Amino acid sequence: MKLKHLISTRQFTNSGMVLELLDLAKKMEASVKSGKVKQSLKGKIIACLFFEPSTRSRLSFGSATLRLGGGMLEMENGVVSSSVSKGETIEDTTKIVNGYADCIVMRHPEAGSAERAAKVSDIPIINAGDGGNEHPTQALYDVYTIRKEKGRLSNLNIAMAGDLMYGRTTHSLLSLMSLFPNNKFYFVSPERLKMPQKFKDLLKSRNTAFEETAKLETIFDTADVIYMTRVQKERFSSSKEYEKLKDAYILDNKIMKRLKKDALILHPLPRVSEISSEVDSDPRAGYFRQARNGVFVRMAILCHVLGL
Ligand code: NCD
Repeated sequence: MKLKHLISTRQFTNSGMVLELLDLAKKMEASVKSGKVKQSLKGKIIACLFFEPSTRSRLSFGSATLRLGGGMLEMENGVVSSSVSKGETIEDTTKIVNGYADCIVMRHPEAGSAERAAKVSDIPIINAGDGGNEHPTQALYDVYTIRKEKGRLSNLNIAMAGDLMYGRTTHSLLSLMSLFPNNKFYFVSPERLKMPQKFKDLLKSRNTAFEETAKLETIFDTADVIYMTRVQKERFSSSKEYEKLKDAYILDNKIMKRLKKDALILHPLPRVSEISSEVDSDPRAGYFRQARNGVFVRMAILCHVLGL
């Protein structure tokens, strides 16, 4: 398989495509750990165009690029600092950066922005989050983490809790995990933050089972993976509404006692209050290990789209 751009997890139509990238990421991890990384990106320039805040995505793409010997052009805070503030379109910005770099990693508040960029781009576009829609590179390293920690990608009960409406990482993760057999999803959210219909339709089309509930207790005995999410403050027009929803679910040691002994707790991070810091020392808390895996998976993605 060869993807020119990485815009959506829908581009992965079978599990083999996912496994191919994960295997490459595994090789990257081994090479980083042995201190012998092939300088595949030597002479290449990766442009990070970020129109929304980021810590992990921007820095881990930076780390991945530097480890592979490439160079990086960075535009942080693009809404304010770039010509977009003067009215330049995504298309024009993309065409310009085509002349400066070999690949673009883009994060933008608008759903569909990466697809718009890809339509006018000769160089690969990697979607690092388009509004409340998708975050495919995050999902790939979430899947990488599940495989590494649980030893399998099938026969899992996967609970997702929090903001399933705007939490783009959950959308991309369900899309990838539903390519593997016998996984069941539990969507835990307040009514206002339920999983959008189009992602539930995707699961139905793949005959993947799911249940929706507002109560976290529902998944205590069943969940193998618990994927907590932050309520996406930036997507609310009313701060009152956000305040009402933000503490809907808080995972603390009291709840940890009731979860499966081998449950895996993931979170794309940043966390606000949805996982108490007391949970961090529990071996089941996988979120910091998950963030580390981001570098290896992003190394693999860069090499893949650049055909290296
Ligand atoms: C996520 C995002 O940007 O969607 N962050 C990340 O890339 N790890 C999750 C979030 O912001 O809540």
